[in-house]
Amino acid sequence: MSEIAKISFDGKDYEFPVIEGSENEKAIDIAKLRGASGLITLDPGYKNTGSTQSAITFLDGEKGILRYRGYGIEELAEKSNFLEVSYLLIYGELPTQEQYDKFARDITVHTLVHEDIKKILDGFPSVAHPMGVLSSLICSLTAFYPESLNPNRTEEDVRLSIIRLLAKMPTFAAWAYKNKMGHPVNYPDNSLGYCANFMKMMFALPAERYEVDPVIIDALDKLLILHADHEQNCSTSTVRMVGSSQASIYASISAGINALWGPLHGGANQSVIEMLEAIKADGGDSKKYIAKAKDKNDPFRLMGFGHRVYKNFDPRAKIIKKAADDVLTKLGVNDPVLDIAKELEEAALNDPYFVERKLYPNVDFYSGIIYRALGIPTDMFTVMFALGRLPGWIAQWKEMRENNEPIGRPRQVYTGANERTYVEVNNR
Ligand code: CMC
Repeated sequence: MSEIAKISFDGKDYEFPVIEGSENEKAIDIAKLRGASGLITLDPGYKNTGSTQSAITFLDGEKGILRYRGYGIEELAEKSNFLEVSYLLIYGELPTQEQYDKFARDITVHTLVHEDIKKILDGFPSVAHPMGVLSSLICSLTAFYPESLNPNRTEEDVRLSIIRLLAKMPTFAAWAYKNKMGHPVNYPDNSLGYCANFMKMMFALPAERYEVDPVIIDALDKLLILHADHEQNCSTSTVRMVGSSQASIYASISAGINALWGPLHGGANQSVIEMLEAIKADGGDSKKYIAKAKDKNDPFRLMGFGHRVYKNFDPRAKIIKKAADDVLTKLGVNDPVLDIAKELEEAALNDPYFVERKLYPNVDFYSGIIYRALGIPTDMFTVMFALGRLPGWIAQWKEMRENNEPIGRPRQVYTGANERTYVEVNNR
């Protein structure tokens, strides 16, 4: 028999079923709470609230576990590649060779974007942050493919939208960078793999020959895998929320990109490098910055530290720290901020403030150091995160629509004025 949770209020007992996930996580199903008792729950930041039942990603923050569709992140990062992981997240199983080849081929033949996209791009000033450009260009796909606005499309039509998103996002991301640099845009090269094509569109110049470095491609592929999904975080919840109104998949993903942009979420990777640079410029005294992060009167936070769900370690950070060492060694790059990062990490991990609050380096603490070694400029870091997170957002959007989830609409506890009578302006 399934377990029951009881809530006692105002002399009455209310019973609610406890549901259990496949990894034995338990949740009180309060769907009937308001109808039965008139009560709602209040949980700012949704710290204890499950918004959905999902079969995509399992995360145990206490044990530092992250699995996509049951496969451990460590194994996927070592043995798989980003397109295969994308297929796994979106369709639930690792593809056969035939399924993989078709998926990769379909993505490759859709990398070109409509020429009119260039006119939209031209409208952005070169100071535009690439994240704003990227979310706008993704949303513009609703205009080029207006049939995507129909919420009752066939499975095949939805599949095509998914392929287009995966295919065109690297093109948009690279073009957002070119716009900033004032360089001519590069068209996709379909003879190259996903990451190599992206790097060529980013860095090739008409005047010079561009060689794709396999060390860089491997590192980038691994980073994208590590970012590919992370269950119900801020941007993913945004994608599901927007999609729950039956908005187009392009509009939903565009909203997710905007949610990711903030410094407390994906924008942290840019903030980490800016912080490390600032510490270096200030003499490299990491202790001073640890003290600032602990001072409640100082708004400074140690960027790249802490996580809403990881309270032991972030398994992605472990892999990335090692990858940062490997990539810098292989590329022969000596980045002084890596030493500052390691010093900060060591100081924080031995400081009671961070230990008591279970604050550990997160995925973004070392990722920026790798991006920098790959030649990616700082304000493109969050775009790289978005590129990686895309298959996760798609998988979550698809699952939400296939499960016919209701429109997302939280309630509130109203704390404003009670009813009052309108006062004419000359009597105020
Ligand atoms: N530096 C200093 N103190 C911190 C930090 C930090 N980075 N993070 C949390 N704290 C303190 C916080 O002040 C609070 O202390 P107290 O209990 O004394 O009030 C306690 O730790 C709990 O913090 P919180 O803000 O209530 O925790 P949260 O779960 O709401 O926030 C977080 C999680 C990631 C937003 C936060 O840790 C943070 O701001 N970190 C820096 C930004 C960052 O690196 N974000 C990237 C997250 S990983 C990428 C992704 O998946 O988005």
